[in-house]
Amino acid sequence: MTTTLTQPVRLESELAAGIVDGPGGYTGVEAGPEWAAEVRRLATLRNATILAHNYQLPAIQDIADHVGDSLALARAAAAAPEQTIVFCGVHFMAESAKILSPEKTVLIPDERAGCSLADSITAADLREWKSEHPDAVVVSYVNTTAEVKALTDICCTSSNAVDVVESIDPDREVLFLPDQFLGAHVKRVTGRDNIHIWAGECHVHAGINGEELTAQVEASPDAELFVHPECGCATSALYLAGEGTVPEDRVKILSTGGMLDQASQTKAEKVLVATEVGMLYQLRKAAPEVDFQPVNDRAACPYMKMITPAALLRSLAVGADEVHVDEQTAHAARLSVERMIGHGDPGSGE
Ligand code: 13P
Ligand code: SF4
Repeated sequence: MTTTLTQPVRLESELAAGIVDGPGGYTGVEAGPEWAAEVRRLATLRNATILAHNYQLPAIQDIADHVGDSLALARAAAAAPEQTIVFCGVHFMAESAKILSPEKTVLIPDERAGCSLADSITAADLREWKSEHPDAVVVSYVNTTAEVKALTDICCTSSNAVDVVESIDPDREVLFLPDQFLGAHVKRVTGRDNIHIWAGECHVHAGINGEELTAQVEASPDAELFVHPECGCATSALYLAGEGTVPEDRVKILSTGGMLDQASQTKAEKVLVATEVGMLYQLRKAAPEVDFQPVNDRAACPYMKMITPAALLRSLAVGADEVHVDEQTAHAARLSVERMIGHGDPGSGE
């Protein structure tokens, strides 16, 4: 669907001619100065703000108005004065922006950019789980569909999951979904034993495993560890700290925004980073003197990488792909997302 503009949009023909649609996304456009100028021109014409998650390609991060973790971007989307939000991230993030701002036009440069973690629980699954625990408070990670959020009491992201769970009456049962590794982290930190955790996972983070982490730690014994709580190796990192292989204060379990804050404070010469590899670009920019190395250099999210320079250009030119959430679902989901953005520190992002 297209958006009505006050001025006609003209896609520079030589750039337009290069856009090719393929199974991995739109390609064929080089992210050079001509592309950057056209993206900025179209964003102004469309009265659009461009938001980019920390896992986006460097060119997309550089052209965006705001770069951040999912909490910071949800807040930026809610506060944006522009009429159009172009969300360079995955579909659930754009959907959350639409839930918060139904009157705005929300575009995602390629609607095929899904999330394996969000796919690990459906609304029907949650309805059934709730019926087994009718008095429980439902806490859903933001990596869920709008339909799942509509059945949720309060959403969270990795940067405020602990704060959110700590805000709940300790005597109430909690259903935490869908990420089992983040759930285990929250359970560990809060010490709650009345928290039930859904067995979902992100295929990218689950693939960053304990063996790889242990091998890297043995090769760089003085390095600090930044570990995203969605990682399969988060428990291993704490185990290594527990048995003294790594001093406890050198293991940091952090959201992507938390990693960025920590990057500017670290005294370490080398940091091993356990998360999606796109994060390294922001970390190296924030602290160029630190040697940031991925625990698994193959940990690239194929969905995040569908937001290519060609896809962003196409999105701004033709007003696609527009994100829609039906009014009833959005209404039911809004309170849980609003509660999420009201919890925890202000989140990280430019
Ligand atoms: P953050 O909330 O840390 O930005 O993580 C989002 C995400 O999708 C992790 O895979
Ligand atoms: Fe989803 Fe994992 Fe990709 Fe994050 S890295 S968007 S959780 S598939």
